Amino acid sequence: MLNGKTIIVGVTGGIAAYKACELVSRLKKQNADVWVVMTREATKLIGPITLRTLSGNPVVTDLFADELAGLPVPHIALAQKADIIIIAPCTANIIGKIAGGIADDALTTIVMASTARKLIAPAMNCEMWRNPLVQKNVNELRVAGHEFIGPEAGKLACGVEDIGKMSKPRAIVKQAIKLLAGDVEGSTPDLHGKRVLITAGGTREAIDPVRFIGNRSSGKMGYALAEAAQKRGADVTLVSGPTALAAPDGVTVIKVEDAKGMHEAVLANRPGQNIIIMAAAVADYRPTITYWQKLKKESDTIKLELSKTVDILADLGRLKNGTRLIGFAAETNDHIENAKTKMSEKNLDLIVVNDASAIEQDSSEIKIIDKQGKIEEHPELSKRESADRILDAVLRL
Ligand code: CTP
Repeated sequence: MLNGKTIIVGVTGGIAAYKACELVSRLKKQNADVWVVMTREATKLIGPITLRTLSGNPVVTDLFADELAGLPVPHIALAQKADIIIIAPCTANIIGKIAGGIADDALTTIVMASTARKLIAPAMNCEMWRNPLVQKNVNELRVAGHEFIGPEAGKLACGVEDIGKMSKPRAIVKQAIKLLAGDVEGSTPDLHGKRVLITAGGTREAIDPVRFIGNRSSGKMGYALAEAAQKRGADVTLVSGPTALAAPDGVTVIKVEDAKGMHEAVLANRPGQNIIIMAAAVADYRPTITYWQKLKKESDTIKLELSKTVDILADLGRLKNGTRLIGFAAETNDHIENAKTKMSEKNLDLIVVNDASAIEQDSSEIKIIDKQGKIEEHPELSKRESADRILDAVLRL
């Protein structure tokens, strides 16, 4: 499957470095030409001779090593040779260096000099992975087109059960094969030919020309979903409430203001959609009367009467004819129970539950529930990664 492909395997200083042996031999079994580049720390955890034997090529630990004397400018020669660079395991330090544009060793120099696809398999302690600075770097790399696989939840080297394990070498090889075969830049085109409608952000219900009732939604989850679906080959329409976010490339964005506008836009664009994901925080109530002139500060108290807005998702559930319908439930209590009730009342195929505290944040801990009541739990992930996990679940339906 990897005949004629040159693959650089970057190995960095994590306990999972020993798994690079299995990764390299699996890549060799696929007939790839494998070149291993190790950081100095990685050489303390596993011997370069082992990887040299398994790969059949010199192992690069230093750009000035005698072994590379045959290559005129080694980092450029290797960078240009590669069809894909896989970094497994990848430490928080190397993620940070690449995101920060630092090239101070053989691996980071080759990565910087290469236009090849990059597949990163992080492995680290759970708190390191959750560190907002690490998550920021991961997000930046994703935006720059680097693909991530894992980390997975499981027993970590420090003894705790949590997120941080490197993905299995078999899964990494499978992902590399998909990336090299796919024609959608940087991603697997498994949504190719599908039409996906996504809503995002909060709605604003006008009180008067200058005031509104709103909520804290930033739109990050819906925008991450739109970006992920587009990267996976879907034809994406994003109906968005007011947000500060930039429209993802290649996505049709329809801007709306309030629940009524969102309802109209969703219904108008519903025909022909294969998947509809309601990630928007739609207001449940709007002022019964919207004043067309600015309310004056006259009395000490004022009463605002509110009326229910239409439940867009419930409406879609009633109209459903083959479209996969996915809802969200942001809860402060009884998360699973409340989400299950919403799922059956709104006739959904999947519901994604998170804690209401995730609103506005860059990451969240999500649970995906299906109609059979099966719960898929994900540890804290960036919203962009959660988006891919949600789309994976939709594709499994
Ligand atoms: N939703 C919708 N239209 C509304 C309200 C909610 O389409 N008027 C959708 C949301 O986009 C989300 C799902 O319904 O996908 C659940 O929204 P949520 O606010 O968690 O629950 P509600 O149904 O509004 O119930 P409650 O506020 O009582 O929890």
